[in-house]
Amino acid sequence: MTAPSWTRRHILSLADFTPAEYDVILQTAASFREVLSRRTKKVPALQGQVVTNLFFEPSTRTRSSFELAAKRLSADTLNFTPGTSSLTKGETILDTAKTYLAMGTDLMVIRHREAGVPQTIAAAMDHLQAGVGVLNAGDGQHEHPSQALLDLFTLCVLLDAKQPRLALLEGKKIAIVGDIVHSRVARSNLWSLTASGAEVHLAGPPTLLPKLFATYGENRPGSLHLHWELEPALEKADFVMALRLQRERMSQHLLPSLREYHQQFGLTHDRLRLCQPQVRVLHPGPVNRGVEISSELMDDPQVSLIPQQVTSGVAVRMALLYLMGSGRGG
Ligand code: NCD
Repeated sequence: MTAPSWTRRHILSLADFTPAEYDVILQTAASFREVLSRRTKKVPALQGQVVTNLFFEPSTRTRSSFELAAKRLSADTLNFTPGTSSLTKGETILDTAKTYLAMGTDLMVIRHREAGVPQTIAAAMDHLQAGVGVLNAGDGQHEHPSQALLDLFTLCVLLDAKQPRLALLEGKKIAIVGDIVHSRVARSNLWSLTASGAEVHLAGPPTLLPKLFATYGENRPGSLHLHWELEPALEKADFVMALRLQRERMSQHLLPSLREYHQQFGLTHDRLRLCQPQVRVLHPGPVNRGVEISSELMDDPQVSLIPQQVTSGVAVRMALLYLMGSGRGG
């Protein structure tokens, strides 16, 4: 496979991604999706390169997905776990990153509970002229680009498996429901979905969906609508994305009770009758069953795209590591 043109050294935010960049990622992910369907699911693209996962915050799917993606590209992988690291002895995050740089790391995948940490490390690496690419795997409430890209890929593949492309979402109604304010997944998705020309509808209680979110829709090809009730967001929706209530990020009491929240904003088969008949549901995981989505809906393979999202994640992350690693953008 010849590397398509890619000029970004780091992937930290989707705010300024161009349609052409989305399409390169979607096409590259589609070819890796094909590789992953083969008997030998591995390519030598990043042989000899070192991909380091620096996850300062818990993760199941994102960390494992990046690790598998790197391995499928034949890279060597290093995994850092804060609890058993020298951070417990007072080492700074930046010194930790420099340690992995000194071991020959080519790509760093970084998750941190504070917004801006991947950006800070990327700037430090550039200052050192290290040539290292930094990928933001979730920073505080800021962004989670690879999650939004795998969501985009899942939707586009569903619409055209052979040629997934951004324009397929033009005019589609996509509802994002739940704890928007604490969600980096929602923020990254807002950039990608409004870039596609989709009609994006956000729904949640006012404490979890401040008016400020309307600014994400300004001067974008798509449109953005805010609702403090579920029904108008679901009406005739093509896709619905549920978000977890991120209670670990709530500094104050923002909700009446989980039961009441489920009654008002929880997704169920019954509620989805307002949507298009073919509606499909996404959720980035981890799921709180019976809170943001009913167990029955989550497990319904006719409606739920959750397993496909996880599968797409590996192909999309292979595409990102490949583009950053072999193109050596920037
Ligand atoms: C999300 C995250 O960590 O931001 N999960 C994920 O990466 N798949 C969403 C969440 O924690 O609810």
